Formats: sequence, structure tokens, C-alpha cells
Amino acid sequence: MKKQNSIAKLVSNNPLQHAGYLAVAKTRAKVLKAFSYVVPIRRPMLFVGETSCEDLCDMLINEGNTNVFIVTDAVLNKLGIPAKVTDYLDSKNISYHVYDGITPDPTFKVVEEGLQKSIDAKCDSIIAIGGGSVIDAAKMIAMSQGNKCQPQQLIGILKARKPSVPLYCVPTTAGTGSEATLGAVVSDDKTHQKALSIDPRMVPLAAAIDPVIMKGMPAHITADTGIDVLTHALEAWMSANASVETDYYAASAVKSVMQNLPVVYEDGGNLKAREEMGIAAHYGGIAFNKAGLGYVHAIAHQLGAYYSIPHGRANAIVLPYVLDVNRKASKKRLAALARRTGMVKDGQASNNDSEIADHLIAQVRELIAALNIDPTVKGMQTSDFDSIAKAAAKEVSDTYAVPTYLSASEIKDILTKIKQASADRAGTDSKDAVA
Ligand SMILES: [Fe+2]
Repeated sequence: MKKQNSIAKLVSNNPLQHAGYLAVAKTRAKVLKAFSYVVPIRRPMLFVGETSCEDLCDMLINEGNTNVFIVTDAVLNKLGIPAKVTDYLDSKNISYHVYDGITPDPTFKVVEEGLQKSIDAKCDSIIAIGGGSVIDAAKMIAMSQGNKCQPQQLIGILKARKPSVPLYCVPTTAGTGSEATLGAVVSDDKTHQKALSIDPRMVPLAAAIDPVIMKGMPAHITADTGIDVLTHALEAWMSANASVETDYYAASAVKSVMQNLPVVYEDGGNLKAREEMGIAAHYGGIAFNKAGLGYVHAIAHQLGAYYSIPHGRANAIVLPYVLDVNRKASKKRLAALARRTGMVKDGQASNNDSEIADHLIAQVRELIAALNIDPTVKGMQTSDFDSIAKAAAKEVSDTYAVPTYLSASEIKDILTKIKQASADRAGTDSKDAVA
């Protein structure tokens, strides 16, 4: 708490205090970069396509596992989504136990309950079937079981001493890319404050990108989660810790999202486009795993905590504003990304970085508009803005290497614009209702 206050004090409009904040933030960014180079991060074995769930199960069986703990949520279980995995395990005479108690933004209590059930059933391996919340909870269960500890003991960096229980993932959304990353987020049961566990041993052994599993996802969730992928890739691309390797994954993800997200939004049954979005989400996860994220996520996390906005939609609301403020510092990088991904306007001068960057930002805005993502944040209070700005700045300082650091008033400017856009939208909606 003391540490939090000292960072909060540094996030100021006072130039001297802001300079102190910048020094701390930039040093942490360098440490994170060194960490990503020194600590090897494994990649999950990746299975792609309509038989990928079965391929993943074959790997699990071939590796000697005989009693699987399946982690999912109640909605997916009711829809029968895990059946593609469980039917196959039945056909191979492999025993399993299904736990469908994972809630959005899982708390320690949810993780502890799953952990106890897995231990009681003497499971030797875990398959996570779900979105980011399910996969994060499964990572914590697997690590806690493997280390014979409580999930709280794993909060922080490199807290585990032993490998996790073998973990395999089947993402049901093309969004978080959590199946590729070394982190997991758990919420405090009372305060709902989020706690992060980071460890390379958290990365699953394998992931199945199965378009059949994803085809039933509703259009608005497809849109929200798809913009989450785009945000991961754009923030990783603009990061000061970006590398040749992360650039490859970030640019590939951006190109794929721009091509495939409008397709799957209109036609959820298009399996080829679903598969491409699943790969893009995975690539986005690999990119931000090393390069990190930025202000879009830092502010979006607060909008989620304060006003219960789903993560992907919060990113879609914040992304255009952060692209605008990053534009000056990231102009060359955004222009390079546009050239690499074909996001250059026909006849646009190839040496005019400003125009090319502006065109890329305009295309991102057009995509968000085409997906009919509601830009409204209900209940925004100006009196919240100080604490939101401080918390967002702290997240950036602690975790990310951003292209340009914002003062508290610059973050509050973004919040004011979001509040104004919400009011404008509410005015338009009420006029439409009257008409
Ligand atoms: Fe995200």
C-alpha cells in the first residue's frame, strides 16, 4: 500500500514529480526487457483445425496421463462445448472429471474450489476449455497442484518451485491469447482487486485452435474479443520492448484481424476465418508475452473494474484515443506496420509517415464502428478520474514499456473524451427513441 502511494504521488502534472515517475517506469521497462531475454519462455505445442481437440487429447494420452481434470464454465458446459473433448476421451477409455465452476474474473475462492476438486479426484492432468478467465483459473489450479501450495502463494514473479500439473488448453474465444502466455490473473474475493502470477512454467504444454469449438460464439462477443486481439498486437508493436520476433507475431495478428474479424462478425459459421482469428489471438498472446501492452489495457482494466465493462469492449472504447496520443511518438512504427500489413491507402506517398499512420488509425476506427461496438460507458463519474488515472499510470509503470508516457491530466483527458462520447451517444439514442 505504501509503495502504491509513492507511485501515485509520482503520477503528477508537476514536471519534476513526473520526471521521477518516468525514471522509475523506464527502469522497470528495461528490467522487464532483460527478463524476457534471460528467462526462456516455452511455446505450447499448437494444434490447428477441425481435429485439433482430438490431436491435443492424443498428446495428453501419449504423455502418460490417465485421469483428466476438465476446467470450464457453466455456460459452456450447458451448451455442450466440452463434449468434443470428453467424447474423444470416452472413446479412448480415459477417465475425467468436469469442473464448470469458473466465473468471469475468477477469484481465489473459485480457484481454490477447483484445486480441491482436482486433488480429491487425484487428477494427473488438466484441460482448460473456455475463454481467458477459464484458462487463467486452470493455470492457477495446475500450478498450485504441482507446487502443493495455495494460489495466493503464487502471486508475483517466479514464485513457483516446481512445474505445474500438465496443462492443455482449448480456447473457445479468439481473444486473450492466454493459452500462449506466462501469466494468470486472479481477483481478490472481497476487494476484486486483480493479482497477477507470472512464471514461464505457467505456459501450457499444448493448445488446440479448433474453429468448430468457436463457431457458436455470438457476434458481439466475437467483436469484443477480436478487438482485444488487435489491441494486444498494436500495443506489442508500439512497445519500446518490441523485437524482431514480437514484430513478426504482432504484424501477422494485425493483418489477420483486419481481414478476418469483419468476416466472422458477419458469418460466425465461417470456419476458415474462425481458425485464422484463433491463430491471430495466439500470435497476439506471443507478441505481448514478451513486448508487453500499454495504456489501452491499463485504462481498459480500470473501466472494467469501475464500470463492469467487458474487457474487449473496454479496449475498443479506449484504443482510438490512445492511438491518437501515441501517434506522435509511434508515427514511424505505425507507418511501418501499415506498409507491412497492406494498410496503406492506394496512391498514398510511401515516404509520408504521418499520412500513412493516420490512415492506419482511421481504419482501426472504421473496423470498430463496423462491428457496432457500443462506445458507451454508463455511470462514469468525473470524481473517479483521479484514482483511475493513478491506477492506470501505476499499471504502466509496473508492467509495460510504452512509446510515450502520459501525465495524469493526459489520462484524464482521455477519460473525459470517453465520458463525452457516452453522453453524445445517449443523446442520439434518446432522440432516436423520440423520433
Ligand atoms: Fe487484453
